[in-house]
Formats: sequence, C-alpha cells, structure tokens
Amino acid sequence: MQKIFIGRKQEVDLLKKAFKPVNIPTRSLLFIVGPSGIGKTALSKKVLEELRKESNIITIYIDFGRTYSNLQEALQDLVRGFEKHVLDYKSAFEKFMEKLRSMKNKISEISTPIVSLRPFEEQPPPLQFFQDLIDSFVNELSECGYLATIVIDELQNFLRFTNWSAWGLVKFFMSQQEKQGNVQFVFTTSDYIFRKRILSDRIPVEYIDTFYLGEMTKEDSIELLEEIMKRASINKNIEHKMIENIVDQIGGVPALLYNLINYSVKYEMSINDVLRYFEKRVYEDLVEKLKAIRKSTIIDHGTYYEDAGWSKVKNYLVKLADSPISISEINMDIFSEIDKLVDSNILQYACKEYLGIYKWNKEKSGGMCYLDVIAPSNRLYYRALKDYVSKNFGA
Ligand SMILES: Nc1ncnc2c1ncn2[C@@H]1O[C@H](COP(=O)(O)OP(=O)(O)OP(=O)(O)O)[C@@H](O)[C@H]1O
Ligand SMILES: [Mg+2]
Repeated sequence: MQKIFIGRKQEVDLLKKAFKPVNIPTRSLLFIVGPSGIGKTALSKKVLEELRKESNIITIYIDFGRTYSNLQEALQDLVRGFEKHVLDYKSAFEKFMEKLRSMKNKISEISTPIVSLRPFEEQPPPLQFFQDLIDSFVNELSECGYLATIVIDELQNFLRFTNWSAWGLVKFFMSQQEKQGNVQFVFTTSDYIFRKRILSDRIPVEYIDTFYLGEMTKEDSIELLEEIMKRASINKNIEHKMIENIVDQIGGVPALLYNLINYSVKYEMSINDVLRYFEKRVYEDLVEKLKAIRKSTIIDHGTYYEDAGWSKVKNYLVKLADSPISISEINMDIFSEIDKLVDSNILQYACKEYLGIYKWNKEKSGGMCYLDVIAPSNRLYYRALKDYVSKNFGA
C-alpha cells in the first residue's frame, strides 16, 4: 500500500533548510527527537524526498530502526542504505561502490559460524567499518562536487555493538562535516537517554541542534484518521463528530491512529471498543511500571522503611496530571526515576511549545528547541496518569 503523508507543512519547510549542507564547515549535528510513533521517520523521509526533487543533493537514509541480534545484520543495513541511494550516482562514486562491494564480502566473513583459523583480532572492529565507509563517501563526495544529506535513523541500535563514547561519536561526524561543509548529518531517535548521554559528555551545546516533533494538529489528525479508515473501508456510517471525539482522546500520534484502526479490523471490534481496550492496557502498564519504581525507591533500614524517593515521584505525578513540568524544576536526585519512566515510554522529554498533549498544537507541531519539559508520552498515558492520581492520591 502506498504510504500517505499528511500535514506537517511547516515542519517539512523548516527541516528542508536544516537538512541542506550549506558549505559552512562548522555546522552542528541535527537530532530529531520525539516520542515513539510520532512520525520522525516519516517526516525525515519526506524531507529527503523533497530535497531530492528540487536540488542536486544526494540524500542517504540509513535505517537502524530495528533491534539487531548481531553486528553483521546491522552492518548489512548500513551498506544497503548507502548502496541503494548512491546507485543513481554510480559513475561519480566508482571507488566508493568498489568499497561497498569489498565491505559486503568482509561482513559475510564476520558471520562465518565455523571457527575461523584467523586470529579474531584481525576482523575489523565495527566502528572502523562504519567510519571508513562514511569517510570514503565524504572524500569522494568532495572530489565530484556533490552535496549530501545523510539521515541515520536510530543510531543507538548500531552503537549497541560498540563502546564508542558520545564525544567520539560527535567528534567523528563533526569532523566529516568540517571537511568541506558538503555533508549534513541528521539523527532521528526516540531514545532520549541516548541524546542525554551525548549531551552529558561535556559536549558544547552548539555542536548539537535539537528538533523536537510533537503531536500533529487536530485537523491533520482527523484527516489522517479518515484516510486510514477509508483505506481500511470502515468509514461507512461514522459521523464526523465521532471521529473528532476519537481524535480528541487518542491525540495526534500517527502510529496510535494506525494501531486503532488496524486493531479494529483485525479483531472485528468497534473503534470505541478498541479505544477502551487501549485505555485499559495503558492504565495497567502504568500501574505496573509505577509499582516497580516505588519498589526501587524504598530504602530498607532494617527496622523501618524509608520511602522518600517515592513521595517525590508522587508529587511530580500529581503535577503532571495538570501540566507539563519544567525540567529546571526537577530535583537532581529524582532524575534516575524520571529516566526510568521516560525509558519505559510513559513520560517524554519534550518542548512545551510543540507538545500538543494538554492542548492541541495549532499549525506548528515541531521545531528547533532545547527540550524544556517532561510530559506524558501521549494522551493515553496522560489520561491514565490523571486516573491514577485521582484514584491513589485522592486529587
Ligand atoms: N504525517 C504523516 N502522514 C501520514 N502517516 C504518517 C505521518 N507521520 C507518520 N505516519 C505514519 O505513522 C507511523 C509511525 O510513524 P514513524 O514510524 O515515522 O514514527 P517514529 O517517530 O519514527 O517512531 P519510532 O520512534 O518508533 O521510530 C508510520 O506508519 C508512518 O508512516
Ligand atoms: Mg522511526
């Protein structure tokens, strides 16, 4: 089925500028962040598509968007990503294409399951592979006078196999950008902890630009939901008012809108029943994760238990039921608990201006900003949280 792309007009325009290499060698790396399923991948692909249409920029999309069971799989995706996009410029990239071919052979050697006679150390470490590949691409790019934008989706999945420091990572990509200013690297990730790790490695903030993507606007969410329903042939007797109502409850997260309809088709349930079911599941998930966090905050003094950590978490949860919380308001000693909630997809680090959960985004649904608040990861968790707070803390 052909992919549809709805809305996000301002974001596409903004990112088109940010994706373009501008021949100024000091440009910073661009990170696109936002909760899972919000549309970071779809948006980046859309921007690349637009860039390709209207300029001579070579666009490369590298997909590390799945979890890999071994390094070989991840390297294969890396090579495939380059191969697919550079093929159109084959004649300009002869040396590089040759490199890709030889890399493919090396990768298949890594996978050889039988015990190799060669000493293990002789196999090139993954980072060398990775750096070598990018380095030779950028060099050849300079020779042939093209510009390139390289989007690397979910880089952290690749980095699982390496022990590269965050600073090493930034330095490497920066050095590539600094060669000629003819390449721009963009990273998309839903893993906030990854971005946080990079920033906490004493990296000057000007090296990293962050683009936060929030919920789609209400109009676009309605349009998307209607389109998804049309494609699944289930829009027969549903009034616009009801669609609006559903969108108000689910919010502007495209993946959730798709899931809602897919689920309804697959299990032959009404959309409202699926919604109730999702709400129930999200609530149960919230209760379970909070229980685990509460357990981890208890300090056992032998004769008595101290539960100070939990009471702090509790205060934040109560606040979150009303509004996003500014990161500067959060106690340092509670960050590990917040990170756990972010890691398990209940909360997110976000930009207040583009969040779209407590009230709908108007026109703008994403932009450059420093993440300034924590908030629920979507409207389902927001309502579950409200529910939890009123049931458990008597608010
Ligand atoms: N603007 C849009 N119009 C139509 N469909 C969209 C739009 N944005 C996203 N989608 C669809 O919604 C789903 C989720 O989007 P996508 O995979 O881009 O999210 P993501 O933020 O990259 O998520 P993750 O963090 O899990 O990688 C996909 O099926 C995608 O095609
Ligand atoms: Mg993605």
